[in-house]
Amino acid sequence: MSASSIAEHLKCPRTQPARLPNPDFQPPYPSFSIRFPENVSQLVMAIIGAQHKTASDPASETSRSTLSAFLTSASSTTLPSFFEWASVMDNKGFYNLSALAYWPSKAAYESWADQSGFNTWWQALRPDGTNGWFLEVFFPTMNRFETLFNTDTAREGSAHMGRCMSEAVQEHGYWGSMRDRIPLSQTDELAGEKAPPEEYKASPSGAVATGRVVIPGRKNLAIIRSGQDWLDTTPEERKLYLETMHPVLTKGMDFLRDHGDEVGCYSCRFMEIVDAKTAEPEGIDRTFGLAYFDELASLEKWCKEHPTHLAIFGGFFQYARKLGNNVTLRVFHEVMVLEPEQQYFEYVGCHSGTGMLVTRRLG
Ligand code: HEM
Repeated sequence: MSASSIAEHLKCPRTQPARLPNPDFQPPYPSFSIRFPENVSQLVMAIIGAQHKTASDPASETSRSTLSAFLTSASSTTLPSFFEWASVMDNKGFYNLSALAYWPSKAAYESWADQSGFNTWWQALRPDGTNGWFLEVFFPTMNRFETLFNTDTAREGSAHMGRCMSEAVQEHGYWGSMRDRIPLSQTDELAGEKAPPEEYKASPSGAVATGRVVIPGRKNLAIIRSGQDWLDTTPEERKLYLETMHPVLTKGMDFLRDHGDEVGCYSCRFMEIVDAKTAEPEGIDRTFGLAYFDELASLEKWCKEHPTHLAIFGGFFQYARKLGNNVTLRVFHEVMVLEPEQQYFEYVGCHSGTGMLVTRRLG
């Protein structure tokens, strides 16, 4: 019998129907969720990045070392529990290098931002025509957060703040299981604010927005970080992954990036984890899609109905069949559905298609 993905202390009587097909449902393969200590009530995930016109811009190394100094210098109680670097070339040809950092509470994040000098530095930043900077911070309370891993040994992102991995969970292997894993879905529809696509379709010019721009949070914005790790695959599986899964995944991520407005997706970055010193992806073999949707229902619909995720999803089962189910590819995701005050977006000198900046008309 599987465990519930929802931790015992976050369970409550349902007023919203579960999507679970029936109470005895058993998933066809095992998957796991992170268990957090009960005293962790809110996590922080921050994307702190620099945007350069090209990957070869030597100033990108200066940007990385500037951010790195903040992320490593403060008292040990306020430093991030975990951080790593990721990069992406966006569809305007800009190179975005960002730290992906996690803290076990909002207080720890705020103390770090003060103590490390990050806040003072960030507030003094002005667009100077060289590179842009972006700060995207999420503060999910635990009732608005869920994780799913296909192995119980992976240590990704928020797992660094976890107590342990759960036993195999019941809520997966059917559409709607992501929703069933979010504790608040027991009592809340998690409806978001839909925006007409013309309000957030990125300006084709990609012009740089003037000044510093803070974008207000949106009700029940749905955020997914969906990761892939093929480092420990055999040569045979690696070849299969790179030749069959990776191209399909890239296509799906390109669709969300370039045509996200058709499905309620404001922003999608398909990022490579890169080496902390060289900023190169070689030898790391890990990627993730980071996407922001107007509401959970839009993310669900894209997964369940859109040919791009259906191709990823179907491709995965063919892939597993070819390997006789001996899959060592590790996949996981972290999903959160946030109140406006649990989101912070600020952009300094970034082009208009960057992150949630797409929701603001150029000023
Ligand atoms: C669900 C495969 C990438 C979004 C799933 C499931 C599989 C899968 C097998 C069902 C999981 C379960 O319930 O047991 C994959 C593979 C990927 C990939 C192999 C890459 C190699 C992505 C990406 C996103 C995404 C990049 C979004 C950015 C989702 C969501 C669900 C899901 C939201 C949950 C749907 C629901 O429960 O209603 N995927 N996926 N996936 N996937 Fe993907």
